[in-house]
Amino acid sequence: MTKAPLAAYPALRMRRLRQADWIRRLVRETVLTPADLIWSMVVHEGEGQIPVGSMPGISRFSVKDCAAAAKEARSLGIPAIAVFPHIDGAKKDATGRLAHDPNGIVATAVKAMKDAAPEVGIMCDVALDPFTDHGHDGLLENGRIVNDATVETLVAQALMQAKAGCDILAPSDMMDGRCGAIRSALEAEGLQDVMIMSYAAKYASAFYGPYREAIGSGKLGTGSVDNPADKKTYQMDNANHAEALREVALDIAEGADMVMVKPGMPYLDIVRQVVDAFGMPTFAFQVSGEYAMIMAAAQNGWLDEDRSILESLGGFKRAGASGVITYFAPRAARLLGA
Ligand code: PBG
Repeated sequence: MTKAPLAAYPALRMRRLRQADWIRRLVRETVLTPADLIWSMVVHEGEGQIPVGSMPGISRFSVKDCAAAAKEARSLGIPAIAVFPHIDGAKKDATGRLAHDPNGIVATAVKAMKDAAPEVGIMCDVALDPFTDHGHDGLLENGRIVNDATVETLVAQALMQAKAGCDILAPSDMMDGRCGAIRSALEAEGLQDVMIMSYAAKYASAFYGPYREAIGSGKLGTGSVDNPADKKTYQMDNANHAEALREVALDIAEGADMVMVKPGMPYLDIVRQVVDAFGMPTFAFQVSGEYAMIMAAAQNGWLDEDRSILESLGGFKRAGASGVITYFAPRAARLLGA
């Protein structure tokens, strides 16, 4: 007679519930569906699609492509699209003047997408970096990002986006007090139904690298007085977790409806802590560098692309996230059988 591997605990055989697909499905603790995905998308001012070199499989979309993508999202069951603008370098200036242009590319794309598929939620980034020639998210004075003056322009940008039809404003700038200022302005303008998903715990990260190429904010990082080399005076130090909870608490108090942790995969501990502490709808952003990592390895034959995509997205659900902002959204929705 063969001896049981754990004679003292004969009933403890964890593999019993893993023996076949049907039982694995039956005891599965979390599931990923297309309804968990927010499609991250870059729009540009020209015609056609322009591939982003550092993000294989991703192109900047024209306004027309964005409208078509909104219909595609609808048919794939993807609830929302987050749109990010690529602006011609010649149109950028130190103050990011075009950030609140009511006839600019963001307003145009939002309107086109809402016209094409009104059932799909549209989310806009509130931050100046696509529009500033120095690539920072705020206004610069003597080498410092000034907080309160930046918040004023962010409010103008947010109101422009809301009036264009944007459903969710997503402040990604990390200025203090911006959620409250945006929420008050929305109330004052009778736009009380517009949602705020704050990038509450956003870290200064190397993983945003490919995004800078995607939106053409390449200049950041000269390190000169008029262009600080990094975003560490406003984005969080990646060693911190208690601070993330304070950031989230503040944004909720100021009127955020949903909160976000960013980047995603290296910060799953923060997602879990935020979910446990606040019970708020909490999202994670699988950022450009995370996308690039998986694609680069897959293209070398080092990772199975489809399985890595689904496993990485599933991890966010296991960590407790309500959903994930991801460049993989349409791809993942198809893999999930949409
Ligand atoms: C800027 C912004 C960034 C991203 C979204 N909004 C970059 C940054 O903060 O430097 C990153 C997105 C990505 O890497 O996919 N406000």
